[in-house]
Amino acid sequence: MLVDQKLEVHTDLWKIAKHVVSLETSIIREILKISSQPGVISFAGGLPAPELFPLNDLKEAMNTVIEKYGAKGVQYTLSRGVPELRELIAQRATERGTKTEVDNLLVVSGGQQGLELVARAFIDPGDYIICENPTYLGALQAFNYYRARYAGVDMDDEGMIIDQVEEKIKKHNPKLIYTVSNFQNPTGITMSLERRHALVDLAVKHNIPIIDDNPYSDIRFAGERVPTLKSYGGDEVIAIRTFSKVLTPGLRTGFMNGPKDIMPHFEKVKQCTDLHTNTLCQYIIYEYVNSGKLEPHIEKLREDYGAKRDVMIKAMKAHFPDGIKWTEPNGGLFLWVQLPEHMSAKELLPKAVDKKVAYVYGSPFFPGGGGENTMRLNFSNATHEGIEQGIERLGQLLKENI
Ligand SMILES: Cc1ncc(COP(=O)(O)O)c(C=O)c1O
Repeated sequence: MLVDQKLEVHTDLWKIAKHVVSLETSIIREILKISSQPGVISFAGGLPAPELFPLNDLKEAMNTVIEKYGAKGVQYTLSRGVPELRELIAQRATERGTKTEVDNLLVVSGGQQGLELVARAFIDPGDYIICENPTYLGALQAFNYYRARYAGVDMDDEGMIIDQVEEKIKKHNPKLIYTVSNFQNPTGITMSLERRHALVDLAVKHNIPIIDDNPYSDIRFAGERVPTLKSYGGDEVIAIRTFSKVLTPGLRTGFMNGPKDIMPHFEKVKQCTDLHTNTLCQYIIYEYVNSGKLEPHIEKLREDYGAKRDVMIKAMKAHFPDGIKWTEPNGGLFLWVQLPEHMSAKELLPKAVDKKVAYVYGSPFFPGGGGENTMRLNFSNATHEGIEQGIERLGQLLKENI
C-alpha cells in the first residue's frame, strides 16, 4: 500500500560538486531550444538530414542481428567493442591507407565520448591543449570539465597556421594538439596536405600527441580527397571517428584509432564511464556496413549535402549585403560567416528568431574570446526551400543592421 507521506525534501541544499555547478550548459543546446519554436528555419544545429536516414536498411540489419546473434546481440560485451565490428573497422581503415589492427581500436559511444576519454586520460588541471581558433564547442565542453587551458591557433584557408603552433608549444608546453582537420566544425575549413605534414613533424619533434577529431572527411562533395593526418602520422595521431554523420547519430557509435600501448588507458577510463558501447547498436552497424550499404548511402549524402550547400551559397550571394564574407567548404555540414567587425552575431540572434530564422553565433567557439562578428550556418538539415527562405530572412536582417 502506498503511504501518502509528505516528506520535506530540500534538493536545493544538496551539495552538487563545485566543478559541476560552475560548468556552463552548451550554448548550442540553448539555441536549439529557441529555434525549435514553430515556423523558425534553423541553421543552428549540426543535425544530419532525417529524410536520408536509411531506416529500412537499419531495420533489416536489426532483424538480422536478433536472428543471427540471439542473446549475444543484447548481452554485455567487451569494453573495447564487439570483435566483429573492430575487425571490420581495422580492415576498412587499412584498405584506405591507414594501417590498423584491432588492438589499435576502441569502440566508443560517439565521437563525443572519444573526446571525454582523451580528456580523462591526459588532462591534469591547468594543462594546455593546442587547438584551432575557433574550435568545436563540444570538445571545449569535454576538456573544460578537466580544467584544461587552451592555446588557440589562428587558421587561414589551409587550416592551423603552423608558425603559431610552434610558438605556442614553446610557450605553454601543451599536453595535446587537438584538431578537426576535415571540414571543421565550425568553419568548414580543411587542413592542407603540407600543413598536415608540418603539424605531424612538429608534434613528433616535441612528443605531443595529435587528436584528430574526424567526423566529416567522408562527406566530401567537391575537390580532391586529402589523406588523413593518421595516414601520414601513424602512432603520433589518435583519430576519433564516428558513425553519427555518415549513418545516424542516435546509434551513438564511433571509434578511436590510436597506438596499441595507449589504448588500454582509454579502455580503463571507458570502463568507469559506461562499461562498453551499446552491443545491439554495434552489431547493427556491423551488419549494415558489412553488407556493403554504407558506401552507396554516403554517396547519397554527398550529393544531397553538396546540393544544399550550393543552394545556401547562391542565396547568400543574392541576399546578403556587401561586406560579409563566408567560407565555401567542399564537404561537411557547416559554413562560417564573418560580419563586419562592428557587428555582434549574438546581439542579432533574438532579432533573427523574431524573423523566424536561427543560427549559432560564433564567439563560444573561440576558447580565448573574440569572434563576436561570426556565425555558423548548418546546411544539411533544412530543405532547399527552407534554406532559400531562411537565408533571405537572414539577408534582410543583415541589411537592416549593417
Ligand atoms: C567535430 C565534432 N566532433 C565530435 C562530434 C560528436 O559526434 P558524435 O555524435 O559522434 O558524438 C561532433 C558533432 O557534431 C563534431 O562536429
